[in-house]
Amino acid sequence: MRIAIIGSGYVGLVSGACLADFGHNVVCIDRDDAKIRALQQGEIPIFEPLLADLVIKNQREDRLSFSTDLGPAVAEAEVVFIAVGTPARQRDGQADLSYVHAAVRDIAMSMSGYTVVVVKSTVPVGTGDGIERLIREVRPQADVSVASNPEFLREGAAIGDFKRPDRIVIGVEDDRARQVMSEVYRPLFLNTSPIVVMSRRSAEVTKYAANAFLATKIAFINEVADLCEQAGADVQEVAHGIGLDKRIGGKFLHAGPGFGGSCFPKDMQAMIKMAQDHGTPLRIVETAAAVNDQRKRVMARKIIRACGGSVRHRTIAVLGLTFKPNTDDMRDSPAIAIITGLQDAGARIRAYDPEGMDQARTVLDDVAYCGDAYTCVEDADALVIVTEWDMFRALDLDKIRGLMRRPVLVDLRNIYGAAEATKAGFAYVSVGRGRQVPPVQEGAPILALVG
Ligand code: UDX
Repeated sequence: MRIAIIGSGYVGLVSGACLADFGHNVVCIDRDDAKIRALQQGEIPIFEPLLADLVIKNQREDRLSFSTDLGPAVAEAEVVFIAVGTPARQRDGQADLSYVHAAVRDIAMSMSGYTVVVVKSTVPVGTGDGIERLIREVRPQADVSVASNPEFLREGAAIGDFKRPDRIVIGVEDDRARQVMSEVYRPLFLNTSPIVVMSRRSAEVTKYAANAFLATKIAFINEVADLCEQAGADVQEVAHGIGLDKRIGGKFLHAGPGFGGSCFPKDMQAMIKMAQDHGTPLRIVETAAAVNDQRKRVMARKIIRACGGSVRHRTIAVLGLTFKPNTDDMRDSPAIAIITGLQDAGARIRAYDPEGMDQARTVLDDVAYCGDAYTCVEDADALVIVTEWDMFRALDLDKIRGLMRRPVLVDLRNIYGAAEATKAGFAYVSVGRGRQVPPVQEGAPILALVG
């Protein structure tokens, strides 16, 4: 099958590489000349495990190519995926469809023969109908179907998620498009991944509802963590206890500093706006989004409390900057609000992240970026773990303690236990585990067992 993918960002690139690996003939298109030239040389602009190998392999085997020239790729394709960005519109938080509409006009001008235009970008309900109208405006005789095929892959696990998804959602309005889409995903169908076919509008809502539900689940467990902290319970035990109930499920119940990333915050805002426009406000989603925003600032206050109530002229070492491990993505990362909050309170920040420091430099000022975790903690008055990269899970705590000025460890991802941290001499603070952190007194030796 010949497939063109418009937009070679995260979703476009991963989809292109995986579809080519299924045996399809795929051309990935992007307007960004430098990006396409780099991709043609096998240079991958994002950090995503397994992606580079998959791209290079499929390029070598002539199933995957990259181009800025949309026309010929679309003309030859039976299926054209739209995977361009839908950023939040500044004025109201709604998804900005200008890139989608620009792509649709270009596609309409170039397509030939029966073509299925598939929207992979996350778009408000009804966008598929609008796209169909737009194509017919530009090309009244077009032989076209418009399908919705939302993408649920996670950054850092993108290849596995694409190739072994829990389900594939396809929204179509006619049987021809349904057959073509089944053909696109046939290799997965054989793998027993369920393909759920529904109306186009249902598919569009499904994507937002899935993200909003998962994000709400995290906001919920974070509030339960606060309760546990006050009430002397352990949120990890509680999460385990509720997660074994199949109706609840154990995933997305890790308490932490709040969710971030390129999808959850943006998609929640877009869904909230979309629902308001339909006269059906989603009050639960609105609250979950607000609770999460506030949480990031609360985390800065938690760190300040762990430092005895003030971080003025103190040095705080931050390990992990990206919104989660195995990505270089800093978009809406909790680290941004936490670091800014600490800086506003007068702290100096040293930081280390295995992949995110280049992007961090573009969003965070006055941070001393370090070459590794141990350099980062030198002479620090507190160490804060913001992102749970594997390499931070087995730090030599004795060595770290020896390098720091004051042994305060704030573990916002609960990757250490209070016993091991206090044994190494740390005042240890985590999320939702045990009793409230006793404030560290100015000048007092820090050996209290906390968290
Ligand atoms: C998310 C969805 O999972 C995916 O289906 C969708 O296609 C895009 O958005 P992604 O943004 O890559 O994927 O990351 P995800 O792994 O879902 O994590 C999002 C945020 O939630 C991260 O900041 C993560 O640290 C946080 N999180 C996740 C928690 O705090 N606790 C959890 O239990 C799970």
